[in-house]
Amino acid sequence: MVHRAGRHFLQIPGPTNVPDRVLRATDRSTIDHRSAEFAALGREVVDGMKRIFQTSGPVVIYPASGTGAWEAALVNTLSPGDRVLMFETGHFATLWQHMAHKLGLEVEFVPGDWRHGADPAQVEERLAADKQHSFKAVMAVHNETSTAVTSRIPEIRAAMDRARHPALFLVDTISSLASIDYRHEEWRVDVTVAGSQKGLMLPPGLSFNAISQKALEASKTAKLPRSYWDWEGMLGSNQTGFFPYTPGTNLLYGLKEAIAMLMEEGLANVFARHDRHAEATRRAVRAWELELLGLNPAEYSSSLTAVLMPRGHDADALRKVVLVRFDMSLGAGLTKMAGKVFRIGHLGDFNDLMLAGTLCGIEMGLGLAGVPHRKGGVDAAMKFLAEGDPRSDKVAAE
Ligand SMILES: Cc1ncc(COP(=O)(O)O)c(C=O)c1O
Repeated sequence: MVHRAGRHFLQIPGPTNVPDRVLRATDRSTIDHRSAEFAALGREVVDGMKRIFQTSGPVVIYPASGTGAWEAALVNTLSPGDRVLMFETGHFATLWQHMAHKLGLEVEFVPGDWRHGADPAQVEERLAADKQHSFKAVMAVHNETSTAVTSRIPEIRAAMDRARHPALFLVDTISSLASIDYRHEEWRVDVTVAGSQKGLMLPPGLSFNAISQKALEASKTAKLPRSYWDWEGMLGSNQTGFFPYTPGTNLLYGLKEAIAMLMEEGLANVFARHDRHAEATRRAVRAWELELLGLNPAEYSSSLTAVLMPRGHDADALRKVVLVRFDMSLGAGLTKMAGKVFRIGHLGDFNDLMLAGTLCGIEMGLGLAGVPHRKGGVDAAMKFLAEGDPRSDKVAAE
């Protein structure tokens, strides 16, 4: 392979750029995971993750990708044949639905157009009609990474409350946690699922469940078979900082550093930074006269943007030009959207100039790939970015 100078632009919506501080933190000898030194680390990262999930309740950390934490959420709370309500918001909601089906759950999968989030009105209607309370859980993907559409979790919670339905609420925040405001406790979510490789700025390999008291109660009677994913063993060991099996020690060093970085910046600032970069990106897309996949501005994602290709043009051909010419990876369209959209990741360890570089590469790529567009997307984004960032204005004043 030929060496390419400069840093590769990894602008897929996760895994994201791993900052040097996190890389350096992982670059240490692995320690005895039964030692007092490890227990201190274990306690620190579990407590730190509670702050990231905005919860005072238990958090479990698995040495697994996000899909493992999806499975953990289901097998710990549900029993074979239980009915669950889900929404076809895109590729990842569809995959979670397949998993639920394979595990022996009965899924009601409300069809969707992959351009909207889960509809709170539909949630209320379906739950209100379920007088027998046969639905045991409502499952939603907070940020659909395949479509760049964010479902309105507090509104779905309010809809569940209005229907006075006791179903558990299970939410996937794999591409939103630590990027888009998310409050496990305040929004009364029962199990929140997350992964390490997106807003948490880590390599892939860790995943999480944040758990409510109600979910813990449900786990006592849930009958789906579970062993590796069982919360009981995890929570028992975690109290003293340990794990029931070998933890991802070096990733946990990185997690400790990532949590410190997020806390230094402040979660509210992290969310505002992502909102601002998403707005700048949308301004570029509009100036190019291309179409956003998401149709509802109240559901625009702050961690990525999905752009529809003009009819007759292939998103993968554009992505190839951008990769070959500018050493930048953009997200592909997934399943139903294959070739039709490209996705711009702007989450994790990311700043104004990284976004400007990303948008430059796309604008040049659009020209080289012969995709009809207007010039000026980068200008529109730069104008917005130059208008000021409340945080850097504060830094300048100090
Ligand atoms: C929203 C969402 N859910 C689930 C997953 C699956 O997670 P993993 O690939 O870490 O198993 C992803 C991966 O990108 C995702 O974006």
